[in-house]
Amino acid sequence: MTGLAQTGPVGTLTIDLGERSYPIDIGSGLLADPATYDGLPGARSAVIVSNTTVAPLYAARLRAALAGRYAQIHEVQLSDGEEHKNWQTLQQIFDTLLTQECDRKTVLYALGGGVVGDMTGFAAACYMRGVPFVQVPTTLLAQVDSSVGGKTAINHPLGKNMIGAFYQPRLVVCDLATLDTLPARELAAGLAEVIKYGPIADMELFAWLEQHMDALLARDRAALAHAVRRSCEIKAAVVGADEREAGLRAILNFGHTFGHAIEAGMGYGVWLHGEGVAAGMVMAAELSQRLGMVDAAFVARLRALIERAGLPVHGPVIDERDNAGRYLELMRVDKKAEAGEIRFVLIDGPGRALMRAAPDALVREVIDTCCT
Ligand code: NAD
Ligand code: GLY
Repeated sequence: MTGLAQTGPVGTLTIDLGERSYPIDIGSGLLADPATYDGLPGARSAVIVSNTTVAPLYAARLRAALAGRYAQIHEVQLSDGEEHKNWQTLQQIFDTLLTQECDRKTVLYALGGGVVGDMTGFAAACYMRGVPFVQVPTTLLAQVDSSVGGKTAINHPLGKNMIGAFYQPRLVVCDLATLDTLPARELAAGLAEVIKYGPIADMELFAWLEQHMDALLARDRAALAHAVRRSCEIKAAVVGADEREAGLRAILNFGHTFGHAIEAGMGYGVWLHGEGVAAGMVMAAELSQRLGMVDAAFVARLRALIERAGLPVHGPVIDERDNAGRYLELMRVDKKAEAGEIRFVLIDGPGRALMRAAPDALVREVIDTCCT
């Protein structure tokens, strides 16, 4: 399903989606290398979409690398933060595309974390009914998850990522060197999505993470390269088999049903996405245990790894009067819910996930136990 063009942690993976297939390049210094972008369709103009934090760090280097390819390169700097992942911010991208008279060959470059990537991808899907875009992820979370697979979206006050499209990029450029400037809290948030791949698909990766967590937290380049490559391999295989989430792809949402409720319930940007996923994975594992699908030792092992990554293992109290009721209310807006019934990604033995509903009383018990 996927193959490495080069052996070792760096190299090129291919995500196999027929005519929508594309490469994921992993390495150090790729962003600033003009050769990285060979193979993309020709165009008169490109637009670099970034934010006020990432653009000052990396936009000039990307612009220089692209200078020989386009007659015009425009830039949009969005406000930074999950709380800006909305219609108003999206409109800024369309304003630039239209005022600069960008045509339907214009290539959009998403330079930043998952927020910039999700919004740029959605803008690319909509502008003139679809223009090409490239993901240049600069957070660990975006390199191991959000830049791959073509899910694009913005948030609605009532629900996370509720408005969006499946729209694949033409290329993903994971430049590991950009992770040097990432704040420690953001690095940890990215590790949540790496840890996620263990319980759902690959307990070998999980054991590797147990051995190499200190190296990852110290930003050891080789350790990061392995984590990014293995995560992208798993994600590429899952997306290659189920691009539009008819079934299998939902396992990538392990921890996300609780996590999205935390993000929306606390107000976007208060808890980082990865932090919500971390606490959400513990809650989903607890629920799996109560349903007799995994044992207590597995839940303890998962909790210990999440804690070592510096991530929360308890959810927040988002409503003092009826906390579990509020979680349930928010989780009913989840995209996996069917006819108002919440469907959770649960662990059916280490390394295997499935999606199923659970009795409200059991879910309430988990929330009451796991929130402090
Ligand atoms: P983010 O995009 O908000 O980035 C985190 C912070 O790091 C921001 O302040 C950003 O400006 C800063 N930053 C980015 N790169 C930096 C760098 N190299 N150096 C210094 N600072 C840097 O958050 P994120 O964790 O990357 O992404 C979270 C988003 O991704 C959420 O909105 C989530 O819903 C989405 N997501 C989408 C998918 C998908 O499949 N599309 C999957 C997982 C998550
Ligand atoms: N992050 C979930 C997915 O891409 O399907």
